[in-house]
Amino acid sequence: MKKKIIPVLCLLLLNTISFAQQADEVSIIPKPASVEKGIGSFIISKRTNIVAKGADAEKVAGMFNYFLNKKYGFVLKVNNTVTNGAIVLNTTSRVKLPDEAYQLKVTNHSINISGERSGVFYGVQSLLQLIHKNGRQLSVPAVTINDAPNFAYRGLMLDVGRHFFEVDEIKKILDVMASLKLNRFHWHLTDDQGWRLEIKKYPKLTSISAWRDSTTIGGYNEFKPFIYDGQRSGGFYTQDQAREVVKYAAERNIVVIPEIEMPGHSTAVLAAYPELGNGTGPYKVPGYWGVLHTIYSPGEQTFKFLEDVLTEVMAIFPSKYIHIGGDEVPKDEWKNSPLAQQLIKDNHLKDENELQSWFIGRIEKFLNKNGRNLIGWDEILEGGLSPNATVMSWRGEQGGIDAAKLGHNVIMSPGAYMYINRAQAKDKATEPLAMGDFLPLNVVYNYNPRPAALTPDQQKYILGVQANMWTEYVATDNKLEYMLFPRVAALAEVGWTKPENKDYKSFTENRLPDFFKNMDQTGINYRILEADIVINDNAQTGRKTIMIIPFVADSKVYYTVDGHKTDNTANLYIGPILTPYTNGRPLTLKYIIVTAGNRVSNEFSVDIK
Ligand code: ACM
Repeated sequence: MKKKIIPVLCLLLLNTISFAQQADEVSIIPKPASVEKGIGSFIISKRTNIVAKGADAEKVAGMFNYFLNKKYGFVLKVNNTVTNGAIVLNTTSRVKLPDEAYQLKVTNHSINISGERSGVFYGVQSLLQLIHKNGRQLSVPAVTINDAPNFAYRGLMLDVGRHFFEVDEIKKILDVMASLKLNRFHWHLTDDQGWRLEIKKYPKLTSISAWRDSTTIGGYNEFKPFIYDGQRSGGFYTQDQAREVVKYAAERNIVVIPEIEMPGHSTAVLAAYPELGNGTGPYKVPGYWGVLHTIYSPGEQTFKFLEDVLTEVMAIFPSKYIHIGGDEVPKDEWKNSPLAQQLIKDNHLKDENELQSWFIGRIEKFLNKNGRNLIGWDEILEGGLSPNATVMSWRGEQGGIDAAKLGHNVIMSPGAYMYINRAQAKDKATEPLAMGDFLPLNVVYNYNPRPAALTPDQQKYILGVQANMWTEYVATDNKLEYMLFPRVAALAEVGWTKPENKDYKSFTENRLPDFFKNMDQTGINYRILEADIVINDNAQTGRKTIMIIPFVADSKVYYTVDGHKTDNTANLYIGPILTPYTNGRPLTLKYIIVTAGNRVSNEFSVDIK
């Protein structure tokens, strides 16, 4: 909430409009490196041609039509002779741009996008965001954009181990990721509570490990002993489906990085193959959350199993990186295991941490031999880092800082900034059940993945940034989308936009309104952001004016000032509210925002003092 003094004329202008309509800035998320506005606009009609110069450009033209059709219900003809009034996609330009960089030039009579395939694809994504519908016409404002990413790795992780999500939902998310120029989908495919990938050599992984009998309800500490829902749940992807996701993502410049957890977070496997545990069974696929003590044995059977699994995984996923987890591994089972203790002795290891290092090191050798690189969560630093490993720093930034100082590549994903399984508002009672602390949009937005503690040379090891969507408390598509958006839009600017070009105010006021409108039009759920509330005092009357300015284009606001619940029976906001005579008593403004697509926000509450 802000208090501002605003001249009366402005007050009138601000009346019922959202920020979007005031913006002079072009509304592209993530904000491009350089934008020069021109004069006039290009009109796209059904007769407009796409000219594809180069085989790669033809593929991108197909993607342009995919996204155009999804939003506007038609496609354009693609040919390869330049004509007037065309949209030219050019991957054969003599001036070579770096990967993912592009130039987009819109004039009254043509649109030109050039770059490598990935760059032209991103030029198309910017173009799609620039298109505005005026009546029946699609127009694009004249503009020249030169753009390139700040980080090469711009990732989103989805945990499908805790709750399974169908391929169609994954594709829906990949579409939004592509539009936001995110390029790594980290697919967390296995966890204690479920294994989600068909492995031909081990069929019980999908007949047993993919299913649990029951799941706890409520928050982790809410009901003790746990209360269970009594519903069998689970699911898995066939190898064909996983390949389909890989291909779908690749067409959108997204690499899918599979994660196969080890040596912890693997109880679901032990339920099917108890011989891979430390003799602490019998095991069942658990329906509760947390850090479980049941882990793989470090014996030869386990390595045989993991190498077999990874062989099938590598055949599905062309990603250079394979994620092997490595986080949250309680070592008590190894402390009590004669086999583990013997291995510590035989390999002259100091303790169980070094045994984990030895374990991960063996897996790294196997991956490297197969031309792949290992990524693990920052616990893989404990007991010594494998020689070529990349560290995903999640328990804060320290793991990433330590790894970069050792000359290892790093992906920054610290909990306090990038764990979007956390609630989006401080008052958790107003939000759906979420994990841990709260993480509002501005905190995600303002994160800078290059720690000041590193020298410029060391900062080069920071490949990029990733947000993590853990799904203990996320069981439905609607909730998944609610938790992702708009924070993933903020992530996009953290990854793409140079810090000096980032600006939270312009992000929310100028760019998010169109993003929200687009989400409405494409049927994707999101959390409707609190409006900006501007309060002005009038010393003469003792009354105040309250302006409610939502960040969603074309939305309506309903409010009360008497402390009562707000729904669509309440006052419709049409302009600054003049507060009642209160004789100095405090008031509470309550309001909801209803979007053009009839999506209703949470009820927000603001004390007016
Ligand atoms: C993690 O959140 N356990 C990586």
